[in-house]
Amino acid sequence: MGYKTLCFGFSCILFAYSVYSPVPENIEEPWKVRFMDAVIKMTSLVATLFENIGLMKYEEVFFTVTALQFTEPVSDENITVVDTNFRDIPVRLYLPKRKSERQRPAIIFIHGGAFVLGSCSKCTFSVCVWHHSKSISFVSEMSAYDDLNRLTANKLDAVIVGIDYRLAPQYPFPAALEDCVFVTKFFLQDKVLAKYGVDPAHICITGDSSGGTLVAAVIQLLQNDPEFKDRIKAQALIYPGLQVLDTSLPSHREYEHGPVVSREMIIKLASLYVTEDKTLLQALLRNEHMPPGSKDLFKFVNWSDFLPEKYKKNHVYREPILGKLNASYPALMDNRMSPLIANDSQLQSLPLTYVVTCEHDLIRDDSLIYITRLRNVGVQVTHDHIEEGIHGALSFTGAPVFLHLGLKIREKYISWLKENL
Ligand SMILES: *[C@@H]1O[C@H](CO)[C@@H](O)[C@H](O)[C@H]1NC(C)=O
Ligand SMILES: *[C@@H]1O[C@H](CO)[C@@H](O)[C@H](O)[C@H]1NC(C)=O
Ligand SMILES: *[C@@H]1O[C@H](CO)[C@@H](O)[C@H](O)[C@H]1NC(C)=O
Ligand SMILES: *[C@@H]1O[C@H](CO)[C@@H](O)[C@H](O)[C@H]1NC(C)=O
Repeated sequence: MGYKTLCFGFSCILFAYSVYSPVPENIEEPWKVRFMDAVIKMTSLVATLFENIGLMKYEEVFFTVTALQFTEPVSDENITVVDTNFRDIPVRLYLPKRKSERQRPAIIFIHGGAFVLGSCSKCTFSVCVWHHSKSISFVSEMSAYDDLNRLTANKLDAVIVGIDYRLAPQYPFPAALEDCVFVTKFFLQDKVLAKYGVDPAHICITGDSSGGTLVAAVIQLLQNDPEFKDRIKAQALIYPGLQVLDTSLPSHREYEHGPVVSREMIIKLASLYVTEDKTLLQALLRNEHMPPGSKDLFKFVNWSDFLPEKYKKNHVYREPILGKLNASYPALMDNRMSPLIANDSQLQSLPLTYVVTCEHDLIRDDSLIYITRLRNVGVQVTHDHIEEGIHGALSFTGAPVFLHLGLKIREKYISWLKENL
């Protein structure tokens, strides 16, 4: 079968899939969302198939398909972009060019990608079909994070540090977190801040999705460290994942099949941050993965207690099923993996917080619970809930498939930073 026939076949299936992909009623630009939903679901399907016949691992299909392509650090008239290392961890810096009388604010940015995908310096979502050296891009080379950070640097006249932390499964928990903590502490040194003209009183740490998980964990660790306590003014969490204890929150149930991100796909990918052992994956999918001694931790993630009534709908709280999994993974009980299980006295010390949640997002409730818990202990939280929002929208801000929704989230995030940093 020729390459063209294959592509034609693929396109037909994609088209058919797009037509039948249901999307929530209030979603903007439903055709674009359907199309992306179809591309991602097909990728997941192909990945499952390839894994079952032993051709490629599930996540490898995603690597190939998202085909990370290095985007050169391109400076423009306003911003100098440089790739460098903080010790041995790659970072991309955005440094405003215009002369400034004052020191600048700074943002440490941690990208998403379920701990296995993504980069702040590469195209993060170029979905391609490949054949030998040729590749056809469906969602062509977008460097959404590069655009985001460049724009933020420009609008805020701020220094931005994007971290290219190590990814799973090659580097499992807590490698990603260790890299982010290291870069943050490295950047916070007086001599480094001085080198980039940064005002030490105006530093924020931000991230989306699994990047938000890492942000929440980094800031908790720093607040517990006398040397770094209160050095960061604010955290911004964009649809973050915040816990792995309960994989059956109301949002998991309602958005099990997407749009765009499905429960099975996210669990398959994110579980690699803990282990490649499939028994954990299966247990996570059944929500029977937690060890016997973990009962006490569930009080921190109990949606029946913390979710606003509006989101409980008619869902029934199910007590956790513990001790079904023989192997024990300490990461499952670690608040560096699930920042939501930090106790109230740990949460109390957290700085000014900004959270974006999307209605149609299977990990929505992690954030809603975290917001309740943070507010309960007096942490100041600004919450933007996007009624027509879907998970990952911020990554769709580049041609040709950009979502108005992605631009809207980007705008909200930047204007919050402008007012609060
Ligand atoms: C540089 O900044 C100016 C003023 O904010 C803006 O109008 C222009 O579009 C920026 N250039 C680029 C390449 O972003
Ligand atoms: C969760 O909250 C509900 C309602 O407050 C309570 O009945 C249940 O025992 C709690 N479960 C856990 C594990 O904390
Ligand atoms: C767990 O371990 C017990 C005892 O070693 C064994 O009988 C049981 O089959 C194991 N369960 C699973 C799910 O592997
Ligand atoms: C909260 O957690 C910290 C760190 O694990 C611990 O030292 C502290 O005793 C806990 N506080 C309460 C009230 O449980």
